[in-house]
Amino acid sequence: MSGKGKQTQRLDKILSHMGVGTRSELKKMVKQGRIYVDGKVVKDSGIQVNPEINVIEVDGERIKYREMIYLMLHKPPGVVSATEDARDKTVLDLLRKEDRIFQPFPVGRLDKDTEGLLILTNDGPLAHELLSPRKHVPKTYEARVLGKVDAEDVKQFAAGLRLDDGYETMPAELALLGHEETDEGTVSLISLIIHEGKFHQVKRMFQAVGKRVLYLKRVAMGELKLASDLAIGSYRELTEEELNLLRNDNAAN
Ligand code: URA
Repeated sequence: MSGKGKQTQRLDKILSHMGVGTRSELKKMVKQGRIYVDGKVVKDSGIQVNPEINVIEVDGERIKYREMIYLMLHKPPGVVSATEDARDKTVLDLLRKEDRIFQPFPVGRLDKDTEGLLILTNDGPLAHELLSPRKHVPKTYEARVLGKVDAEDVKQFAAGLRLDDGYETMPAELALLGHEETDEGTVSLISLIIHEGKFHQVKRMFQAVGKRVLYLKRVAMGELKLASDLAIGSYRELTEEELNLLRNDNAAN
């Protein structure tokens, strides 16, 4: 059901949804002769139009209608993956008003201190599918881990680990990218692919092998990679190709 809009709707409903104005503002704009549909000035803001067929113009500018929004955010640390929070800044606070109008929500959660790829959308069914435990959509992380990650850890992650609450994880692909000597001791740079998303999963997996995650970044979700030119804290719409990657992940699993 994602993607396609309803057939006809009230013009003022469409335009208020697009953030052009409130219903009463739109009424005024109609009186002022600022709104056109298919080249004809509109006399009644309540007329029925099909936004996918009819051409709507406001002050001479065409309104590009859509119902769904799909955003890629490079989440910074310090914001929570929620739509509202009494204490902390949320990822929605990073969005421009014209995007917040669509009421997007984060697809899954990253911890407050975790950075990286976060999808925001108002496409409930797609989000639901991507998060479904049955789908096992892989998530790729990079991390700095206090301790010397070694081949034995790689084996244990591949076999499945028992977390602090007794949960047995699915096989995960751990790869060692390097080591660094620091004042705190050896720090390992790793990448990890997990196929599920339990609470604090990556941190708890390392805890299970006696190590501590110091820094965590999600770099991919399914086939969709965090764009390398997307600065931390910024976001953009997914391209059609990227959206297809997500949809394919969803279909393939
Ligand atoms: N695993 C974690 O521990 N934290 C995250 O934010 C994501 C995965």
